[in-house]
Amino acid sequence: MKKEYDLICVGMALVDSIIKGFDPKPVSASGYRAASGSLNVGGEAVNEAMAGVKLGLRTAILCGLGEDGAGDMVADALQRCGVDTSLIVRSADHPTPVTTMFVRDDGSRQSITNASHTYNFHPERYRGCFGKARALILGSLFRAPFDDVDVIRGVLSAAGEQGLLVIADTKLPNFRFLGLEDLRDLLPLIDYITPNEDEARYYSGRETPEEMARVFLDCGVKNVIVKLGAKGCYYRGTEGSISLPPCEIHAVDATGAGDNFVAGFACELLRGSGTEAALRFANACGAICTTAVGAATALKSREQVLDFLKSQ
Ligand SMILES: Nc1ncnc2c1ncn2[C@@H]1O[C@H](COP(=O)(O)OP(=O)(O)OP(=O)(O)O)[C@@H](O)[C@H]1O
Ligand SMILES: [Mg+2]
Repeated sequence: MKKEYDLICVGMALVDSIIKGFDPKPVSASGYRAASGSLNVGGEAVNEAMAGVKLGLRTAILCGLGEDGAGDMVADALQRCGVDTSLIVRSADHPTPVTTMFVRDDGSRQSITNASHTYNFHPERYRGCFGKARALILGSLFRAPFDDVDVIRGVLSAAGEQGLLVIADTKLPNFRFLGLEDLRDLLPLIDYITPNEDEARYYSGRETPEEMARVFLDCGVKNVIVKLGAKGCYYRGTEGSISLPPCEIHAVDATGAGDNFVAGFACELLRGSGTEAALRFANACGAICTTAVGAATALKSREQVLDFLKSQ
């Protein structure tokens, strides 16, 4: 039977309020100035779903949004990009998460999450739609809604029963703190886990990508990809180990590089590529993403990525 979707991205959808060039010197008793302030849609599931569409995948998002203006903004941006929004869960009881982000002149960021980011829309209750897809991306494990063992169990067991490929991206925890030990019986249900270097260090307690990956595998994960930012990526799992150097680009903003990487990896696996070819493609998607400001700006199409890989 032909599936309705290639990919469902499950997880965080939000609005980023981005403040650049914040001047900590007050101009009045309670007034401060910044160079700019803008709103951007974001969240891992949103970035991954948008990248999935651009790479040619039939992509849906399963996320929670409030019945508010921020929720409309996210839903609208997803629709305009071509993401199927019919699975979005909207609630008048929860505001759409809004992250406050301070970006310094050197590009480094401080982001502030709040209680709205703990919004658990219980994706396991919508497991009925999983059978319509070939793959799930969890964006992200260890953050709401995947900071609750019962939710993680519900989603992973339903995905396993229906034979979906499962890729779990990760984040550092913000409100609820789970570790690999808490998920020991569930980690074997994940096909690929894709922490960045900080996340891999945090959850494994190790310092090198090889050692970090080993800890994840020892906890039952089948395959680990450590995203290494400007250093490329490292894979370890059923295919042995693969280290890829970074693609050569001029990076201006790394926001969403990991999300574009994960979508690229899923895209190529779903097209039947092996692990190494999918990793090369993902490594290029992450690199391309960094060449423009914003998580959903630089990546345009699969052809673009293939041309870029040829030029490397
Ligand atoms: N400066 C860079 N040069 C080349 N490739 C890069 C660069 N930065 C990121 N990448 C590519 O993007 C991938 C993901 O980047 P990174 O490790 O920053 O993920 P991340 O921290 O999960 O990102 P985010 O959470 O912001 O989406 C890297 O593994 C690499 O392939
Ligand atoms: Mg990330």
